[in-house]
Amino acid sequence: MVGPYCGAQVGRIKGVDVRRFIEWARETRALVEIERTVDPDLELARVMYALDGRPVLFRDLTGFSDWRAVAGVCAQRQHFAAALGCKVPDLVHRVADALAHPTLPPMLDAGPCQECVEREVDLTSLPIPRYHPEDGGRYVTAGVVVIKDPDLGRNISFHRLMLLDGHHFVARFVEGRGIHTALGKVTEDLPVAIAIGCPIHVLLAAAMSPSKGVDELSIAHAISPTPLVRCQTIDLEVPAEAELILEGRITRAQVDEGPFPDLTETMDIVRRQPVIEIDYVTHRQEPIFHALLPGGAEHKNLMGMPREPTIFARVDEVCRCTGVYITPGGTSWLHAVVQIEKQHEEDGRNAIEADFQGHTSLKHVVVVDTDVDIYDSADVEWAIATRFQADRDLVILTDQPSSSLDPSATQVPGRKARTTKMGLDATAPLGESRRKYERARYELVDLSQYGVRDKT
Ligand SMILES: Cc1cc2nc3c(=O)[nH]c(=O)nc-3n(C[C@H](O)[C@H](O)[C@H](O)COP(=O)(O)O)c2cc1C
Repeated sequence: MVGPYCGAQVGRIKGVDVRRFIEWARETRALVEIERTVDPDLELARVMYALDGRPVLFRDLTGFSDWRAVAGVCAQRQHFAAALGCKVPDLVHRVADALAHPTLPPMLDAGPCQECVEREVDLTSLPIPRYHPEDGGRYVTAGVVVIKDPDLGRNISFHRLMLLDGHHFVARFVEGRGIHTALGKVTEDLPVAIAIGCPIHVLLAAAMSPSKGVDELSIAHAISPTPLVRCQTIDLEVPAEAELILEGRITRAQVDEGPFPDLTETMDIVRRQPVIEIDYVTHRQEPIFHALLPGGAEHKNLMGMPREPTIFARVDEVCRCTGVYITPGGTSWLHAVVQIEKQHEEDGRNAIEADFQGHTSLKHVVVVDTDVDIYDSADVEWAIATRFQADRDLVILTDQPSSSLDPSATQVPGRKARTTKMGLDATAPLGESRRKYERARYELVDLSQYGVRDKT
């Protein structure tokens, strides 16, 4: 690093920050610790890919001896459940509750993220990885971007940032999302802070799209304590427990961004996007850089999970919803399985329409009964095989607004992509005939009585 000085020690704050996550992962023997020196230029991503789904701590990075890197923080739902102190199926309810009851976070005078201040800004001295040989450059992928919309107030969201030089990034701001809309309202530079290495629940909140004007940091605080500190050069607040804070401005300049692999693991195209200029850098002592593999388990969880409560809430308005799972096979964005407690024959069809309203990028959905395990793809397929007739139970909606991430959608630059959507009502009919759709169950036996220790 370029001559950092370290300020006064500040006390630890309760919460699930990256360091506590690493401790927890070590204690539960989930953590993979890489002692060997790893180069952030391509090699780091290859190791991350080979270990995708597991938390990994890289202790030694080629050319960045002051830094360690962590990956896989959000790679499993169990990580969120452990951080929130609940079971995996209860996550959807915990998140829905926080969405409904945002709570303003407390402000601290000082926080760990400002322990060290860089005397000079030099972004090339940060261990920003290059993930793929075809990438447009080195990329920050776990950056939580904080802005203030002139009308709607604070907004935090993820945006990939391609490194241009020691002071600049080019960001990807999807059209119509919070920052893109805020930029349309100002004529000058927009102050921005980028927090890297955030606590796990802040990452979850940053990936949400609540109603306009709802502050995601207040959602984060409703999930778990989220103390904030003021930035030192601009009027923005950031999570006190982040590892690294970049303060700067989104300028009016635009340059090419990309190519870069997206959630679908296909290469996203090059577009003209806004340049960010960084004026000030602070970080924790012995900082840890959060590297997030594009298209990996962590990216998928963060994209899909926050949409489950919004689907749940919308479906629950038309029938009784009991579970939602956005599936990894559908890139954790385009496919969902929705479980309902069917009370009327039309509930399945109504749920399909509500699903697409609850998550507008959703492309295919399967609706199942409460006896089907939504987390088990074989069980869902069983429901399709035994309860679904295409001429009766298939809903097709043509020319619908869709995700820009789907390479098979009709993409028109500057406009929302269009696609055909499909819903499968794989619920059993109600009434007399329902019995024939029930699975024949065997009574459970105690296998230890037969000299067998466990199922495997
Ligand atoms: C890991 C990750 C990376 C993301 N990268 C981008 C991105 O580069 N550009 C973008 O516009 N959205 C990106 N998103 C999606 C937004 O951060 C997300 O939809 C957010 O909820 C939008 O918030 P808003 O609607 O309040 O603006 C990413 C999400 C995740 C989880």
